[in-house]
Amino acid sequence: MEIINRRKRMMSVARKLRREENRTIGFVPTMGALHEGHLSLIHEARALCDVVVVSVFVNPTQFGPSEDFNAYPRDLTRDSGLLAEYNVDYVFAPTVEEIYPPGFSTYVTVEGLTDKLEGSSRPGHFRGVTTVVAILLNVVRPNFAFFGQKDAQQSIVIKRMVADLGFNTEIVVLPIVREESGLALSSRNAYLDDAERQAATVLIRSLTRARAAYNEGEHTASRLAEIVRSSIAKEPLARIDYVSINDAETLDEIERVDDRPAVLSLAVFIGKTRLIDNVILGGTEKQVGANA
Ligand code: PAF
Repeated sequence: MEIINRRKRMMSVARKLRREENRTIGFVPTMGALHEGHLSLIHEARALCDVVVVSVFVNPTQFGPSEDFNAYPRDLTRDSGLLAEYNVDYVFAPTVEEIYPPGFSTYVTVEGLTDKLEGSSRPGHFRGVTTVVAILLNVVRPNFAFFGQKDAQQSIVIKRMVADLGFNTEIVVLPIVREESGLALSSRNAYLDDAERQAATVLIRSLTRARAAYNEGEHTASRLAEIVRSSIAKEPLARIDYVSINDAETLDEIERVDDRPAVLSLAVFIGKTRLIDNVILGGTEKQVGANA
């Protein structure tokens, strides 16, 4: 496994793999602090592609001024050990200056889709995500790039960007990986103390209650959202940021969940830690490519 810090080196390695060796490249972008969720993406990349590249880069432009950029867990030695165990071929771990050199002034914005949900709670977040992902896709030029369904809106936004800007990369979205308790894996779970970790299971418990109601015939979006809200309200450590039901492709808010897949998503503060989670209702798993 080679760890690469420079864009130029990463570009020339990837070019050689593609052109001279005719090998398919699978790419998993991460911000490090790797967990089983990331490892499931790497596992799929390994199965589908000849060469696996993983980036580890805590991207400053996707954090708001009062968010956790400085506190975000960073441990490249630990991450590299895990990546070597997973037979990753290349780790791209650039510095901030390597991605955003002095004078950097070009940003990628996907309009519309980024106004709601995470975009409305975290202004500027998606501009940072799409900008860095565009840079990374340009550097690595992978055949496939792998993302997790936990960041449902991120996957939808990136698919839109890739289609609109004509990137020659297929975006693969894989199911949420959960702890035994049902808590969705996230690097931010590291911020939770024992009581908060227990309280955080209210996210999946509330989503599961709504899914059960949906399966029993409740298709009105506002009632399903209310089931989630009232269930979370019982947990004293939890404070809701949003609960929303949106079309899984356009992210338009919907009144009823019918044939088209819908994403029931939420963002909830457990203490000071903001967690997100979602389930897909309606449609079929195939229609969205991944289910929770
Ligand atoms: O999902 C993440 O970890 C990040 O948003 C990503 C895609 C690596 C971009 O920084």
